[in-house]
Amino acid sequence: MTGGLRKGLTSYGDAGFSLFLRKAFIKAMGYSDDALDRPIVGITNTFSDFNPCHGNVPELIESVKRGVMLAGGLPMVFPTISIGESFAHPTSMFLRNLMAMDTEEMIRAQPMDAVVVIGGCDKTLPAQVMAAASVNLPTIVVPTGPMVVGHHRGEVLGACTDCRRFWAQHRAGTVDVAEIELISGRLAPSVGTCMVMGTASTMACIIEALGLALPMSAAAPAVLADRRRIAEASGKRAAEIAISGVPKPSDLITAASVRNAMIVLQAIGGSTNGLIHLIAMAGRAGIKVDLAVFDQLGREIPVLLNLKPSGAHYMEHFHHAGGLPALMREIAGFLDLDALSISGSTIGDAIAAAEMVLGQDVIRSFAAPVTKEGAMAVLHGNLAPQSAVIKQSAASPQLMRHTGRAVVFDSVEDMTTRIDLPDLDVNADDILVLRNAGPKGAPGMPEAGYLPIPRKLAREGVKDMVRISDARMSGTAFGTIVLHITPESAVGGPLAVVRNGDRITLDVEARRIDLIIDDTEMQRRLAAWKESPPQREAARRGYARLFEESVLQADQGCDFDFLLREGSESADS
Ligand code: FES
Repeated sequence: MTGGLRKGLTSYGDAGFSLFLRKAFIKAMGYSDDALDRPIVGITNTFSDFNPCHGNVPELIESVKRGVMLAGGLPMVFPTISIGESFAHPTSMFLRNLMAMDTEEMIRAQPMDAVVVIGGCDKTLPAQVMAAASVNLPTIVVPTGPMVVGHHRGEVLGACTDCRRFWAQHRAGTVDVAEIELISGRLAPSVGTCMVMGTASTMACIIEALGLALPMSAAAPAVLADRRRIAEASGKRAAEIAISGVPKPSDLITAASVRNAMIVLQAIGGSTNGLIHLIAMAGRAGIKVDLAVFDQLGREIPVLLNLKPSGAHYMEHFHHAGGLPALMREIAGFLDLDALSISGSTIGDAIAAAEMVLGQDVIRSFAAPVTKEGAMAVLHGNLAPQSAVIKQSAASPQLMRHTGRAVVFDSVEDMTTRIDLPDLDVNADDILVLRNAGPKGAPGMPEAGYLPIPRKLAREGVKDMVRISDARMSGTAFGTIVLHITPESAVGGPLAVVRNGDRITLDVEARRIDLIIDDTEMQRRLAAWKESPPQREAARRGYARLFEESVLQADQGCDFDFLLREGSESADS
């Protein structure tokens, strides 16, 4: 037997001694020989006092352990980095690849035959799947699950769509300090991930669609018994795949399953971050996400999930309406139903077993979609030669085709300093432009793409404006916001040469974002920028330097160039 404790022995030049020493030390914790002879299931512990989205991880670990032992395996819990969205400076995206590297190396370094990764907050699940795809050890994902909803004066609240809505009202002067303080205690009423279709929910859905988590794993609330039963079942299944050695992530992350995930991303009204993470996860398995195919799917697949910010409901309602299997039943004609699931059966089997909940309004049919096109559109144009993305399902219909004057902010700091100045030259028809907020520019591509409406306009009742940037945006946000402009301005993308007062046209139907200047003028400005680019302080040491030197652009998933798996299979068939 080469598995279990005998895997990946520490190198002392004598394998027998290495195993003897390993056993001698682990017995210090009271393990018996019987326990140590079992197949080992590693379980990541991403609990942190700084991460309330993972506040139920200790209970989930207990449930997973019970499942592993029920199936005859030995559970071994080990820590990895944990990233809580609002506690990560400068931005959680800066740390996603570090968590992926940490998780990958800890799975590789320690003896385990399968691994259960427990994550939830935005960047954690993609980091864990990137790691799993690189190690290619049998892996099962257990999301921590969404929070339950909050309530305020008769209204149902969801983090963080309503955080932004109330904060905008506070900025506009219609919600006072006392009420905003009260609301801060009601927006996140339990542990778990944001309960709207933000990035965490999006990633949980995509990962279930990829077959990496058991059916119904995406939407069960963090505090429900269902969530713990899913964790127990996942532990049980993990022990089985530890023994059989299959399926591996490479059996599950295929061109077919990635295409399924793209379809689900469009149908759920998913977060724009979900696209970056899907590209990164697929890239680790050697699968390329073709943005033209993703955009075309968005023209064919409507948003069917009636969840905020695109719709009206919350994740717990999605769970009670049948969860992702029931949603996938509505789009089954587009999906590859033979794609495998970690459950041992197929996506088609999961759909066949989906509950039919009559009278619900959360999962819509093709005949009554939430929006007639999918969540996202991919844009091109002289401002975005490689690509940009807009969450059209959460945008204002009257702004989807709009020409306006550019009001330019050179950085996140510049925007923060000037956006509320009373003498800022800005009108409701203008287009707010933020640059130097991309993967290298900020660094880490912060979620600054949701530029606030300038206070003086907010006070006049302006709720939405066209905003464009090379930044990201929270999946919980609403607005006509063009994101991920690639190449980013910090590396000389055309966004770098927009000037105050230039005119810009957004045309989502035509999939265009253009600066209205002729080509000669554009080339002249780009050449001038190249000749004397603005000085940027480059990171000189540590992880920040590694990030600066290695991070790829948004259309390549912002992974590090040296971590990608070479491959050319495309999820476009
Ligand atoms: Fe963690 Fe929203 S802040 S999921």
